Amino acid sequence: MLRETDGYVSGQELCNKFGVSRTAIWKVINQLKERGYQIEAVQNKGYRMLSAPDVINVPELESLRNTQWAGCEIHYFESVDSTNTKAKELAEQGHPQGTLVVAERQTLGKGRRGRQWESPAGDGIFMTMVLKPDINPNNASMLTLVTALATARAITVVTGEPAQIKWPNDIVMDGRKIVGILTEMSAQFDYISHIVIGVGINVHNDTFPEEIAQTAGSLYLVCGRRFHRASLIEAFLEEFERMYEIYLQTEDMTGLQKEYESMLANKGRQVRVMDPKDSFEGRAMGITKKGELIVDTWESRKMVSSGEVSVRGIYGYV
Ligand code: BTN
Repeated sequence: MLRETDGYVSGQELCNKFGVSRTAIWKVINQLKERGYQIEAVQNKGYRMLSAPDVINVPELESLRNTQWAGCEIHYFESVDSTNTKAKELAEQGHPQGTLVVAERQTLGKGRRGRQWESPAGDGIFMTMVLKPDINPNNASMLTLVTALATARAITVVTGEPAQIKWPNDIVMDGRKIVGILTEMSAQFDYISHIVIGVGINVHNDTFPEEIAQTAGSLYLVCGRRFHRASLIEAFLEEFERMYEIYLQTEDMTGLQKEYESMLANKGRQVRVMDPKDSFEGRAMGITKKGELIVDTWESRKMVSSGEVSVRGIYGYV
């Protein structure tokens, strides 16, 4: 109630709403203060919340959530091996689409191509969403692009600074990688049992291990400010839910292509496409409805699908 109200909420309103005494309300307000919430109490007016601590536990996330199904169940862990692994377990146990796993730290955070994802406590967002879509498994890889778009939008909305997408699914700001996305699917050849989409966002990090120090960045390093992680998660859930519904209408990027291209960092840039079979250079022009990167070389136009391919800027990471 405090969060939903701009001004003060009177003690009486709180008593009526929860059917408890004024003393009980006073005790809970004190508990919230002890947990880092700044709450002002003014006689004859009531209580007003001034700020919330940067926690990402279930009550904090639930009180911000403004979606129909994304984040319908939230599972929070202080420490977990990998939120993707946990989400897979939950999906297999029958937890519904929209279930979200969030962790303060990961001990075995997974990156793409078997790499590890640095996941120290307090600095980042490590979350994974469970999806159970009734779609053709061949179209599922585009969900990674949908997630990249939702994350880039959420970051732009919350920080007020432009986040861009390095095709297919890294988010970059000032030429540095801020977000990584790892999608894993469990499917038969014509039926998806579940998909888990993991998103790692570097939020407060001020240093990185040597191996990634040249390319990695954080919202703090780029924007020079600290952001409330739970609000970022909530913004992501809203954007993801909206974009996922658009994706489902065609099972491809038709309805999201323009928005994706407007955030595409590679657009108009010279890139090197590194494919085990065929590496080449060209200019990235945009994406197709199937989510492929359009690259114009001297001889021809090529459509590059994600998977094993990696794309690098010729003049740097993007
Ligand atoms: C990449 O290599 O760019 C993908 C990194 C994905 C990291 C996230 S953090 C939350 C989720 N859990 C994992 O173990 N990995 C993903």
